[in-house]
Order: sequence, then structure tokens, then C-alpha cells
Amino acid sequence: MKTRYPVHPEFATHTLCDNDKYLSMYQQSIENNEAFWGLHGKRLDWIKPYIQIKDVSFDQQDLHIKWFADGQLNVSYNCIDRHLPTKADQTAIIWEGDNPAESKNISYAELHQEVGRFANTLKKLGVIKGDRVTLYMPMIPEAAYAMLACARIGAIHSVVFGGFSPEALGDRIINCKSKLVITADRGVRGAKSIGLKANVDKATKKAGVKDYLESVLVIKTADHEVDWYDHDHWYHEVSQSVDTFCEPAIMNAEDPLFILYTSGSTGQPKGVLHTSGGYLLYASMTHEYVFDIQPGDVYWCTADVGWITGHSYVVYGPLANGGTTLMFEGVPNYPDHSRFWQICDKHQVNICYTAPTAIRALMKEGDEPVKSTSRKSLRVLGSVGEPINPEAWKWYYEVVGEARSPIVDTWWQTETGGIMISPLPGATALKPGSATRPFFGIKPALLDNEGNELNGVASGNLVITDSWPGQMRTVYGDHARFYTTYFAAFKNVYTTGDGAKRDEDGYYWITGRTDDVLNVSGHRMGTAEVESALVAHPAVAEAAVVGYPHDIKGQGIYAYVTLVNGMAESETLLSELVNWVRSEIGPIATPDKIQWAPGLPKTRSGKIMRRILRKIAANEHKNLGDTSTLAEPEVVVNLINNRLNK
Ligand code: WTA
Repeated sequence: MKTRYPVHPEFATHTLCDNDKYLSMYQQSIENNEAFWGLHGKRLDWIKPYIQIKDVSFDQQDLHIKWFADGQLNVSYNCIDRHLPTKADQTAIIWEGDNPAESKNISYAELHQEVGRFANTLKKLGVIKGDRVTLYMPMIPEAAYAMLACARIGAIHSVVFGGFSPEALGDRIINCKSKLVITADRGVRGAKSIGLKANVDKATKKAGVKDYLESVLVIKTADHEVDWYDHDHWYHEVSQSVDTFCEPAIMNAEDPLFILYTSGSTGQPKGVLHTSGGYLLYASMTHEYVFDIQPGDVYWCTADVGWITGHSYVVYGPLANGGTTLMFEGVPNYPDHSRFWQICDKHQVNICYTAPTAIRALMKEGDEPVKSTSRKSLRVLGSVGEPINPEAWKWYYEVVGEARSPIVDTWWQTETGGIMISPLPGATALKPGSATRPFFGIKPALLDNEGNELNGVASGNLVITDSWPGQMRTVYGDHARFYTTYFAAFKNVYTTGDGAKRDEDGYYWITGRTDDVLNVSGHRMGTAEVESALVAHPAVAEAAVVGYPHDIKGQGIYAYVTLVNGMAESETLLSELVNWVRSEIGPIATPDKIQWAPGLPKTRSGKIMRRILRKIAANEHKNLGDTSTLAEPEVVVNLINNRLNK
């Protein structure tokens, strides 16, 4: 297999950024970081231009991250109004329904009206600047309208992915003290219906939720039966009498834009907080350069708006750039395995940005469903969310892209707001499996476990040594946790939680998480979250959860469960536990395997030896490494004999 793919000849002449430009801009961005961002901050429209640019300290006593702090702007104005003079009739959003017969184009003029109407509806329900609003939505245009409407009036949105359970939704409503939840009667994916409103009903009954939650705003997608409560409002009813113009609120650059919950190594998900100016600048600039956006492009990111990728690269980045963004309600394999590529043909998609798990799932179905489509419009392919294995890379490149389109393998995180390490299509020679080089202004470094910086070809903890405008500002409501999670392990740098190696060309290769965070089908999942869900079941005494290699999902969830004394192992209990985790966290946390464990391997001080559990789950028990600190070696023998991956 080829290991290096030079920049495509078409891109050598026709690109936003070739290699020379990348090198010189990168150098400027590092040598004169503040001036660089001061210049590029002008790509946004400011109500009051900034004079201050960067004000950052990663010190424990004084941890703060501020960009353009004296500037004022409105994010929805930047994503909509400023494009109206030249692009009122251009399509802003192409919506493709789960049902292939349904799609619609929303122009910038229409988007302006819809967002204005939505914003005035929020006001009518009493939402004001600074209020938190939770969204629990399917992939319909109203999800984007709702996000932009919050931005328009200065409310802070918290989007919760529709695959989370009522329990998890309730926790997130309480954590940020949301006044309003916006949902839809149902969601539909692959012809399967998801009772979003019914889930919200259950969440509102959770203790503590109604301490904050005042209303639920419901979008009607079809004639579905739903239960109805005093706090419920139909969107089409409340919005009927409101104006379609809403004056954008004047926001400070550092006013919060949104909270997005993500998993870490402890049981409680944390609310990642992003603010207005820096985030939007970073989302928009990365979007333009990484995807080499040209005027008139149709750009499609397959992510759900429930994840950061959906925030930065379905909604904010493309719209801030006045682009055309495609929003897809459905799944890759419905009605059949050609769906993605049929969508590319139907809407003449130029840029397609998806996740390795989708690529692997489609690859398994063979080449025929791809080859039955044209895909001639495609120019750039993107990958995000987890390492892409070289086989999947090659299939994506050769079969989907017919070796015409470069693949941008983009490494980043919820916390980083936008893409951090990635090729640029016209600048970077590709190596399958490598996210290649840092974006402008990003200074990665590799540290050993003692915090010493490693130079040249090396492998270690990936950290970022300086701030960038898209960096998260705090953990909502818990600034101390912001410090301990990201700045305590190594001083004066942002710790990513990922490991990486750097090769002789200075390319980065992400090797995966160094903490107890799993990546299941590109979704972040804390092992501790699944463990605390399991031990909350009355039959469970103890549980340990690890990841194991999974052909399609990247990682699968493998749980070892010790039952309370006197409880019998049974198939019924097994499926009860699976359902229990689904109801505590959501279907995305469904354990793939549960092994009964009469005991767990522990050190003499009582610490679970996860390293051993990971080896057994991966069927690599012949090479367990050092087991001399095990308190009871016979526990391991039992687990090996009963392992589920043989
Ligand atoms: C992983 C998703 C390898 C990584 C945008 C990171 C990747 C976590 C890549 C963040 C990539 C993301 N190659 N690994 N191109 N992109 N990751 O917060 O472990 O959902 O820390 O953000 O996904 O996941 P999150």
C-alpha cells in the first residue's frame, strides 16, 4: 500500500492555500501569534471592533482564556444577515430527509426569517440573554434555527444528542439550570421513530428538573400522538403571531455561545463552554481552509448537531462563511447502502465530511453500492472523530473518491472548538492514518509522562502549548474542574488526553486516548459513566468497563460485572443489565459484551488493574505484562477461561 500521496495536480493550481502559503502563514501564526489572530479576526463582522486580542493564563491561580475581549458582535448576524446583500437567494441549508423523497432548500433570506421568528418565539416564552436552553432535536432545519435563534438573543444553547436517555437529558438540564427545552414530537432515522417528546416527558419527571425547567417547546413534524402537559407549547402555535424580524443582541466576544456536554474520565459528563467571537472565528477559518471552500460549493458534514462536529461544521463554520451546508436527517444504510453517494449525486455535493465508523460500515457492504453512483461532483473528502485505519482510508480514497479527492483526516475535540491538526487539500501530501500537520496558530508538543518535551521523531502525550481562539473557556459551573482536567497534569499547556507520535516529516499520528475515555463509533464515552450506571443496578456489586477493538465501531464496550452475594447469573439478568445501561445513559452506551466476574483483578491496595482487563477483552491474555502486583492471581485465570472474545 502506498504510504505517501502528494498534493493532487488540480489542487496545485486551484486552491485557497498551497504548501508555500501554508508554511509562511503557519510561521507567522506562531512567531507573531497575537498579530496573526488580530488580522484574521477581521473575517467576522464586529459591532464594536476589538482592540485587545489575546489575554490568556493557564496558571492554576489565574486560569483564564479571553480573545477579542473588548469586541462586540452577534453570531447569528455573522451567520446570516451579513450575507443578505449578496446571497439572499443562495441556498444556506439543504435539508435531506430520512425519507429520500423529502428534501428542501432554505435560502439565506428564508433562514433570516425563520431564525427571526424562532428568536421572537423564544422571547415570547420569556427567554432572555444569558438563559440556558436545552435542545433535544432530530436533524431537521428547526435544530439549526433554534441554535441560531439562541445566538441571536444571547441565550446559551445546550444541545443534547437524541440518542441520550431521559435520565441523561434530565441530568444535563439540571446541570446548566435550563429554563426551556426545545424538542420535536418524534425523530426518524432509518424509518425508525424515536419518541423525543416522550423522552422529554420522562426527563421532566426526574427529581430536580422542574426546579429550573419552565417550558417545553415542541416542533410538530407529523401527526403523531403525544402526551401533553401544562408546560408544553407547540412551536407552530406560539410562533404564529410573532414578527419574523428580530434585532440581533449585542454580545461581547466572551459572552457564552453554547454548552456541550462531553465525557471524561470521571462519572459526570462535563459542560464544555464556548464563547462567541473566538469560537466563531476559529470554526469559520478552519472550515474554509481545511475543506478548501470555493464559491458555490455544496458542502456536507454528516454529523448530528448533538455533537461538536455538528455545531462547528454543519451550522456555525459553513454559515459564517456564507456557504451551502447540507443537513441529513437519516443514516448511511437506509433505504440502502448507496444512500450517502446518492445524496452526493442528488445535491451535487463537492465536499463530504464523515466518520471512520460510517466508512467501515459501508466498506463491509462492498464496492457495488458505491459504484452504482456517479460521485463526480466530489472534490474533497473528510474524516473525523477517531483514528481512521489505513484500510478504511484507502477504500474511502480509491473506491469513494476514485483517487481524485484528497482526504482530510481532521483531529480535534469538543474542547478545541474546531479542527487542530489536519491536511489542507492544496498544501499537504497525505499519509493514510496521519492527521498530518497543525492548523495555523496551533503549537502541538509531545511530552513524556514526567512532562519533558520530546523533540524530533517521538511518541508521547499530545499537548498544545499555547491558546487559540476556539479553545473552551471553562467547564460550566466548575472552573476548578477545568483546571484539574486540562492543566494540572502538565504545567502551562493544554493537555488533550490523546497520545500521538511525530514522524520524520513532522506529521502527527494520533494513537488514541491516554485516559479512560472510549471512542465508540466516534462517540466519546467515559468508562466510568458506564460503570456507575451498572453499579446503580441493585444486582451489581462492582463493575469494570474497558474498550476492545471492534471492526466497525472502532471500539466496543466490554463490561466485567460482579454480582451482589446470592444473586444468580442468568441470561435474563444479562439483558436486563444491557437495557438498564440504555435507560441510564442511552442506546449509544449499550455494552457489546458483559462478562460475569466473580472477582476483579486488583492490586494489593485495591486498585482495579484495567490494563489486564483490556488485554483479556482484546483476547491478548497470553501477553498480560507485569502481574506481580496482583492481589489474587486466580481471579485472572477465571476471567481468561470465561472470556467472551475467543
Ligand atoms: C478522537 C470530535 C484520531 C480523539 C471532533 C479525541 C480522533 C476525541 C480524530 C474527541 C482523528 C477525533 N484521529 N482520533 N482525526 N478526531 N479523535 O470530543 O481521541 O467527540 O480526543 O470531538 O476523538 O472526541 P470529541
